Amino acid sequence: MSDIEGLTPRGFCNYLKMLGRTRAFFVWDGISGQIRSSHPQLAPFARTLLASSRDFDEHEAIFLEVSPRTGVLMGAFVHRTCRGQGAGGIRYFPYDSLGAYLVDGLRLAQGMTLKNALAGLWWGGAKGVISGDLGVSQLSHETRRKIFEDYGAFLSGLSGCYVAAEDVGTTEQDMAAVFARTRFTTCIPVEFGGSGNPSFPTARGVVRGMEAALAHQNQGTLRGKKVAIQGLGHVGQALIRLLHQRGVSEVVASDLDPKRANRVRQQFPELRLTFRQAEREWDPLLEEPADILSLNAVGGMLNEANIARIRAPIVCGAANNQLADPEVDDQFLHNRQILYVPDFVVNRMGIVCCADEANGMLVDDPNIERHLGEAWDMAIYPLILRILQQAEAKTTTPHRIALGLARERSRELHPLMGHRGYQLVQGLVTQGWADATVF
Ligand code: NAI
Repeated sequence: MSDIEGLTPRGFCNYLKMLGRTRAFFVWDGISGQIRSSHPQLAPFARTLLASSRDFDEHEAIFLEVSPRTGVLMGAFVHRTCRGQGAGGIRYFPYDSLGAYLVDGLRLAQGMTLKNALAGLWWGGAKGVISGDLGVSQLSHETRRKIFEDYGAFLSGLSGCYVAAEDVGTTEQDMAAVFARTRFTTCIPVEFGGSGNPSFPTARGVVRGMEAALAHQNQGTLRGKKVAIQGLGHVGQALIRLLHQRGVSEVVASDLDPKRANRVRQQFPELRLTFRQAEREWDPLLEEPADILSLNAVGGMLNEANIARIRAPIVCGAANNQLADPEVDDQFLHNRQILYVPDFVVNRMGIVCCADEANGMLVDDPNIERHLGEAWDMAIYPLILRILQQAEAKTTTPHRIALGLARERSRELHPLMGHRGYQLVQGLVTQGWADATVF
């Protein structure tokens, strides 16, 4: 690990300022097989990145900038843009170290490449990550607005190689602040012509994934089933609404915040709902006997130790990157005969709605509904069925089948634009993007 990686994100911003800079980039050079850094002082760090093969997957670029008005670290992680501009949400989180910040950005951007490719979107994969000193709920209204407006200006500076959306830690108001400074964002509020909060469509996609998994196991429909739901946030609550409509017999839910369960109880007084208090270190929900376990909180929840305690035969939820170690944890689940429905297939609906924003608004939009039906072979339900069948036939895991398919598709070139995203990245390098000082 290089010394820089051990810095806090704030420490890295100070380091950049000490170099007389407010911007930095790391750009992949496919010809030399090296990562090019914007400033010579960052070259050792580029080598460390290259060596971390678990997280670095020839990402086309990482752009970093210090927010001029708040001093927080803003980043754009562009993974692969063969299918079009890199697209994905902006995450706000107070990271402890630059290393943790980068790992999250690298992994989340890869996840977006896979998700967008399997959803058939002509978009590549990218992710925005902002690291602040405070949790998002502790920020004053004014600071929050400045952070996201600065992020919008940062996006404009990136010339469109990354198109943003909402993610954990960001709200529609934040997206409105981003939109005030750039056209390179989606998920903006309805009153600005956007599609608004994507959580309900996301939950609809997760339900289709659950239905496909049950059908694959000859377990019928959701009616009468018991579902364990981790996370009672936007997606978790929407999921409960949909599951209730489909006649599940019982929901057991967990969250760090017990107030969320009260809110759900008020909304669905007739639903049989049990609440389990989750702690950051351990969530008793994972060992709940249920027909389906659905993770809708944060990523990295599944690891060898807690997979051994899961008592549900199906795992299907919206959280991104649920496997703490994607290279082995799917196998642990498989060994325990737990059917894991790959997150990046079922949680696509948020980005699907965002991708559709620029095409105008229709009620029951066929561009969106086709992902939730069964007629299109890449819709969630038939695709999950196919992935599960192939995994069984090839005695491998559904995660690996989905990964293979998504990687292949992610290399297809945009039919009109070709690999323009990469040209945009190269343009920034040659124009000296990182040498400009932003105040
Ligand atoms: P949210 O922030 O509204 O809700 C997350 C909930 O999880 C909160 O209630 C939080 O208290 C709880 N939580 C956090 N850590 C926990 C833990 N260790 N144990 C139990 N509960 C915990 O987020 P949202 O929008 O509902 O998204 C949920 C997940 O789905 C996230 O991982 C997100 O990346 C993913 N996702 C969401 C999409 C969307 O449309 N909102 C689209 C695609 C993925």
